[in-house]
Amino acid sequence: SSLAKLDDEVPPPNRRQNRSLPAEPMPRTGFRNTPDTDPSLPANRDWGRAILDRVPTSTLGNASVEAATIADADTLNTVIATAVEKGKAWGAMSGAERAGILHRAGDVLEARRAELLEVMASETGKTIDQGDPEVSEAVDFAHYYAESARKLDDVDGATFVPAKLTVVTPPWNFPVAIPAGSTLAALAAGSAVVIKPAKQARRSGAVMIEALWEAGVPRDVLTMVQLGERELGQQLISHPAVDRVILTGGYETAELFRSFRKDLPLLAETSGKNAIIVTPSADLDLAAKDVAYSAFGHAGQKCSAASLVILVGSVATSKRFHNQLIDAVTSLKVGYPQDPTSQMGPIIEPAKGKLLNALTTLGEGENWAVEPRKLDDTGRLWSPGVRYGVKRGSYFHLTEFFGPVLGVMTADTLEEAIAIQNQIEYGLTAGLHSLNTDELGLWLDTIQAGNLYINRGITGAIVQRQPFGGWKKSAVGAGTKAGGPNYLAGLGGWTSTESTR
Ligand code: SER
Repeated sequence: SSLAKLDDEVPPPNRRQNRSLPAEPMPRTGFRNTPDTDPSLPANRDWGRAILDRVPTSTLGNASVEAATIADADTLNTVIATAVEKGKAWGAMSGAERAGILHRAGDVLEARRAELLEVMASETGKTIDQGDPEVSEAVDFAHYYAESARKLDDVDGATFVPAKLTVVTPPWNFPVAIPAGSTLAALAAGSAVVIKPAKQARRSGAVMIEALWEAGVPRDVLTMVQLGERELGQQLISHPAVDRVILTGGYETAELFRSFRKDLPLLAETSGKNAIIVTPSADLDLAAKDVAYSAFGHAGQKCSAASLVILVGSVATSKRFHNQLIDAVTSLKVGYPQDPTSQMGPIIEPAKGKLLNALTTLGEGENWAVEPRKLDDTGRLWSPGVRYGVKRGSYFHLTEFFGPVLGVMTADTLEEAIAIQNQIEYGLTAGLHSLNTDELGLWLDTIQAGNLYINRGITGAIVQRQPFGGWKKSAVGAGTKAGGPNYLAGLGGWTSTESTR
């Protein structure tokens, strides 16, 4: 694609040293997180601008991609049968052999950083500062799961038997890192993969998948499909040869998949409705900044985003916190990603339904501290909104909206704040801002969420350091945390290899 060249011509200086790939996979062991591109270096900002110059002004997804098999019922059955057949040799390789290819996949993804940023900006409106860490995460997944694959070889007395065929259905909001993570994990475990990228972000998925092919993952072992009709999705999910499905998406989608097939071997990370609690002992300036970033990064379209902030005791009436939060939110520069000064981009499609309602309608007793405004005719560009007075048990308290709107709630005590969060049926991320160790202890012991963050934002989990997964209705099925030590175990099983005496 056009940017493959850009990747060669203008690498960002802080990673210039190692752009050309060796002909053979490098022998490599161990895992280290990949650094993001450093925006404080002027040359890196030029690099970012050169990428954005190539992003077309009309930034809607929904493109058909050449690399995908556009399936009807027959071709889908052929794809599945071929994947299972060709996957046998892949699964028979040692973990160390697969690790070599996956490490190389990490290197190819890194070498295609500019191209990945361009397609994400084009399709989903993602700004460079949001997209760059996402590419780093995809690179990290490759190297991390490569090392996980190697460890599968080293278990005494048992042999890992991989799933034969894993279906991956990723979302559009992290259109590179999430499909990369799910796919690389399944491949590392030794399974063949059929992936259906989200329809809003097919090109982003395609560039990621092409990188894996380029690294040496056989095309029949990793197949990308594009399914026009819902019946085809059902056919794929309910096919008996499919022995794992990795879904990241809404809770309703997980239920739909389960309705297709009762015994579905599902690993799903689903919806979230996440809160940050701020107590009087907190560094209030830091808290306001972290709340604003967690709520409005990528226009709030992260399952990990902060949708609520719960202010404890005197924080509720603190002018300082209030002013800092409102300043942080109203000073966010909203715009399309082509403008490098944009800090909050557009939403994925014109606001409708629940989200439109959350951007325009107040519940009983609520008022706008910052009222969201529709900034152009597309219906995609909205300024961020902050509503005060959200009541316990109200619609806004309990519903996921997935957009740039934050609700402020209050509690007399930390216990009450925790109860407010735990009343929500989801449990994905949670944050606490407090400098009191007793409060930290209480919160850690009682808060119900898969990913806990103290005195920082609640988005942007880092592979290995913060394995990511949900609790309650934020997870469905057997999955453990992505980017953590046990994830591959869910993608196969163990047989005993000891002989009986
Ligand atoms: N892993 C992402 C984050 O932590 C969400 O999917 O923000």
